[in-house]
Amino acid sequence: MSPTGLGITFLTLPLVVRAAAGGQWCYDSQDPQCGPSHWKELKATCGGDKQSPVNIDRRRLQRDGGLGDILFEGYDQAPPGKWRLTNNGHTVMLTLAGESASEHITISGGGLPGRYHAIQLHFHWGSPAQNGSEHTLDGHQLPMEMHIVHMNAKYQTLAEAKGHPSGLAVLGFFIQVSETTNTNYNTIVAGLRNVSHAGDSVDLASTFRLSTLLPRSGRLSGYYRYQGSLTTPDCSEAVLWTVFEEPVWIGQQQLKAFVSTVHFPLEGSVLLKMINNFRPLQPLRSRKIFASRGATASGGSLHRDHHQLLLSLLLLALLSLFLPAP
Ligand SMILES: *[C@@H]1O[C@H](CO)[C@@H](O)[C@H](O)[C@H]1NC(C)=O
Ligand SMILES: *[C@@H]1O[C@H](CO)[C@@H](O)[C@H](O)[C@H]1NC(C)=O
Ligand SMILES: [Zn+2]
Repeated sequence: MSPTGLGITFLTLPLVVRAAAGGQWCYDSQDPQCGPSHWKELKATCGGDKQSPVNIDRRRLQRDGGLGDILFEGYDQAPPGKWRLTNNGHTVMLTLAGESASEHITISGGGLPGRYHAIQLHFHWGSPAQNGSEHTLDGHQLPMEMHIVHMNAKYQTLAEAKGHPSGLAVLGFFIQVSETTNTNYNTIVAGLRNVSHAGDSVDLASTFRLSTLLPRSGRLSGYYRYQGSLTTPDCSEAVLWTVFEEPVWIGQQQLKAFVSTVHFPLEGSVLLKMINNFRPLQPLRSRKIFASRGATASGGSLHRDHHQLLLSLLLLALLSLFLPAP
């Protein structure tokens, strides 16, 4: 071995050790030593008090009549240009913001403070034995969840947007599974085979209308809104969350494609399937979750109103027993 070779070995060794000891985050399914309970050691924000995901307890929602329909623009046209599908080691992500293309895909209204550009969408899923949504509904985890990440148009960069509580708006969609294939997901599902390994990416054969990945447009007025964070490090508390009531349905085989095709980064010679890439629930603390105008009246909160009414009536009746007759 030449002296130079020795030098390089000595130089690179400490770097490799340091990378393994810290700086990387992961899910427990990849390695419990860098899993979600360790994220706050890498980024203090991950231990903050406005973290996501949370459980959506429909008995404790607060109705906000100001949460009307979200205006989706550019969702109904296949944009020119290309969309790149990437295995980033933690999820499969579809980049929507080319250098210019995404200017045309925006959301506004629905109580959002301004206009937001779509940047990327990605998925969280489970395993054959476990559901994998991040948010839960009345304590129930659903099979998958899709996140469409948007950036407030008044900021120039993601880093800048992350510095503001309403810098980002993420749309969360629960994904349910049935026997029927959802052909609108074919392009993404077919692309999974091209991004089997961490770091892989592929340009999809064509773009398509983003709206085809969503529930029927008539069902988009029902949603839940709260102030939270990114669900991966750096866990920036910069996200106005919108989680839709109506799920998207995909086929059992399509779910299986996510669970069985994609892999986490290689660790040594170990190749692990990418599964259970969801963050555990975070405490709501003093935050409130708001129900949009069009969200289904929750049995829970209606019951509570009824209870209060009944109690008041009962109290009145009791009082009247003690009041002197006129
Ligand atoms: C997983 O999702 C399915 C389909 O929605 C549901 O029937 C089941 O109860 C869920 N399982 C858990 C453990 O939440
Ligand atoms: C994607 O994978 C399929 C099947 O393995 C292959 O036929 C196709 O050429 C790949 N596409 C690209 C763009 O690499
Ligand atoms: Zn996500």
